Amino acid sequence: MEGAAVSAEVRSIKIGSFTAPNNLWLAPMAGVTDGPFRALCLRGGAGVVCAEMVSAHALHYASPRSLRMLRVDESEKPVSMQIFGSDEQTISEAARAAEARGADIIDINAGCPVKKINKAGAGCVLMKDPVHLGRLVAAAVKAVKVPVTLKTRIALKRGVLLGDEMARVAESEGAAAVMMHARAAEDVHAGEPDLDALAKVCAAVKIPVFGNGGIADGRTAKAFFDAGCAGLLIGRAAVGNPYVFQDIAQELAGQKPLPLTSARRVEIYLALIEENVSRYGEKIGLGRSKKTSGYWLRGFPNAAETRGRFVRMENLADVRALFQSISF
Ligand SMILES: Cc1cc2nc3c(=O)[nH]c(=O)nc-3n(C[C@H](O)[C@H](O)[C@H](O)COP(=O)(O)O)c2cc1C
Repeated sequence: MEGAAVSAEVRSIKIGSFTAPNNLWLAPMAGVTDGPFRALCLRGGAGVVCAEMVSAHALHYASPRSLRMLRVDESEKPVSMQIFGSDEQTISEAARAAEARGADIIDINAGCPVKKINKAGAGCVLMKDPVHLGRLVAAAVKAVKVPVTLKTRIALKRGVLLGDEMARVAESEGAAAVMMHARAAEDVHAGEPDLDALAKVCAAVKIPVFGNGGIADGRTAKAFFDAGCAGLLIGRAAVGNPYVFQDIAQELAGQKPLPLTSARRVEIYLALIEENVSRYGEKIGLGRSKKTSGYWLRGFPNAAETRGRFVRMENLADVRALFQSISF
């Protein structure tokens, strides 16, 4: 981590055979955690970045889009690639495909509440059948040499806790760590994380538990470490501030991070746009950057007007000039 601050909580961590430089990781977010964003989060201090989830079924049929999603270059590593699926064979194949494309870690999704995915027997519905879930974990572990992790939730329904059972199943089937979203599936991404439930999960297993859900700064990060987490998985707080990892590490070490001024946010967004353009060329790179402009320009003076002008622009020089003309 650049200009690394030292805190008791933030440290390198061993996940099976893999040692991550630190334990503040980027959570997988479909439509957000693509290559350019992952590269930026690594620059911002993330220990490992998680790619967008990829369907094991689609990989089985060699879907070009899914295969493209598994493409990573060195600036995006270490990377955990997340797969979702419902049967042992496609999960094993998908794990092998991700490993062959450079995954440092394979993560299995057993927490996604999206209906389409649940209807196909994947995501959070796997929590209803721990035996079947265990078989999927075991199949992935057997298929690859890199460590396998399980991302799941503390519960399907608020108050009916399943997280410790999920973690035990993952551990007994050979998973190297558990990524635990401390919200029930019925709450999707909203509401306060249940840190008491998370503490029970941490106490239930010996493998590292990464806590997730609403971590945005040193204070929230500390609460998760106090619950017993070995590491943290940060999602939406990284959107708009991929330096959140470095900021949290500094706060935990008693230092003051750089304030996230509007000017700094614009600078970071421009860096993301430039990363997109350098990888995909001006047309496609700008097109991809525009998709998440809502997140990045939120709360800016004249945000709607700036966004309206930005989405019509077709060259990087105009975009730079537009952002540099914003007065804060
Ligand atoms: C836009 C978006 C896409 C997401 N996609 C995935 C995904 O592909 N796989 C997954 O396991 N979780 C996914 N999540 C959940 C996040 O990984 C994370 O668990 C959730 O956002 C809670 O963390 P946070 O409060 O730090 O954002 C997604 C969340 C968001 C907001």
